[in-house]
Amino acid sequence: MKNTTTYLDYNATTPVDPRVIESVNLYFNEFYGNASSLHSLGNKSKTAVDTAKSSVATLLDTESDNIYFTSGATESINFALKGLALHPNNSKKHIITCHTEHKAVLETCKYLRSVGYEIEFLPVNKDGSINLNLLKSSIKANTLLVCLMWVNNETGVIHPVKEIGKITRDAGIYFVCDGTQGVGKLPINVMEAEIDILCFSGHKMYAPKGIGGIYINRSITKENKILPLIHGGGQEDGLRNGTYNVPLIAGLGKACEIAREEVSENEEYIKQLQDFIEDELLQIKGAYIHGKSTPRIYNTINVCIPGLDTEIFIGMNNDIAVSNGSACSSALVQPSHVLLAMDINADDAQSSLRISMGKNSTKEDLELLIQRLKNFILIS
Ligand SMILES: Cc1ncc(COP(=O)(O)O)c(C=O)c1O
Repeated sequence: MKNTTTYLDYNATTPVDPRVIESVNLYFNEFYGNASSLHSLGNKSKTAVDTAKSSVATLLDTESDNIYFTSGATESINFALKGLALHPNNSKKHIITCHTEHKAVLETCKYLRSVGYEIEFLPVNKDGSINLNLLKSSIKANTLLVCLMWVNNETGVIHPVKEIGKITRDAGIYFVCDGTQGVGKLPINVMEAEIDILCFSGHKMYAPKGIGGIYINRSITKENKILPLIHGGGQEDGLRNGTYNVPLIAGLGKACEIAREEVSENEEYIKQLQDFIEDELLQIKGAYIHGKSTPRIYNTINVCIPGLDTEIFIGMNNDIAVSNGSACSSALVQPSHVLLAMDINADDAQSSLRISMGKNSTKEDLELLIQRLKNFILIS
């Protein structure tokens, strides 16, 4: 069966780039050795892991030995937060995060709260931005870390990571950043942004699902301040144990290499599509775009069309992939916790659609969506 879906759900996941599939297949079919084996097939795999690490590091403007591979952003986030907080030498029990974070952060923080940590959830402004003065004044003597995302997966709102990094560095605490929706779409220099830990995922940047990574500032690993989440055979300097998933690691490396080369071209192309669809959407009576007045990424539009039953719309138009609620966290569609945190009422939150585009999106895709929305509004 051929896929005829008009796909506008790139923040949930992306198709895998054919060049990435080529790299993955090479290590599935031809060079299938264990990267820890000493023979030549093992060496070939070890080289693939090292090359991929170097591609990831180049994309983040850092060195290879600060990068570790994981199964995805959820694991990276768990590793970062639990690894720092539960370390036996850590005595600081206060963690600052925000209501609009992904469930991977919120649920990990709730777990830490259940074992005695104090979690402070910062509120956001109506446009989804955070108040940096409030962040500053929330830091206490026993604050261990601030965990704030780079780009919000539902609204595309961009947090000012450089400013956050400066605040946390000045305060002598860690800045853990969920970079899942930013890595590969926006340039970043982790040192310059003073990010201590950056978590990311392959399947949001044209690599397969089930592979991701984490940047950890060398001072943390050198001083042995983070615990592994998964113990075992000593891979990744003992910080992420388990046989290297060489095919997917090679795929992630390739995706990073492609992203680095094509990031500006993609941004320019997709930004035009964003401008086009926003103009069209705003012509619909009462429609408004969440986070429009604050910095937002070029591929995401979260639009509220008051009164729109998004569940019925999606059901009737299931050849178009858009999302309401947060598709990547659950099959249950509830009012989005991100929109509720932005003080959007539950009805408007339920009437909001997330359109997220990627490098294969076209103006025709968007025209079809607009046409279907207009038809649906007419018959509703
Ligand atoms: C912002 C953000 N963080 C974390 C995740 C979790 O990523 P993964 O699917 O790689 O575990 C996602 C997507 O689901 C996301 O959009």
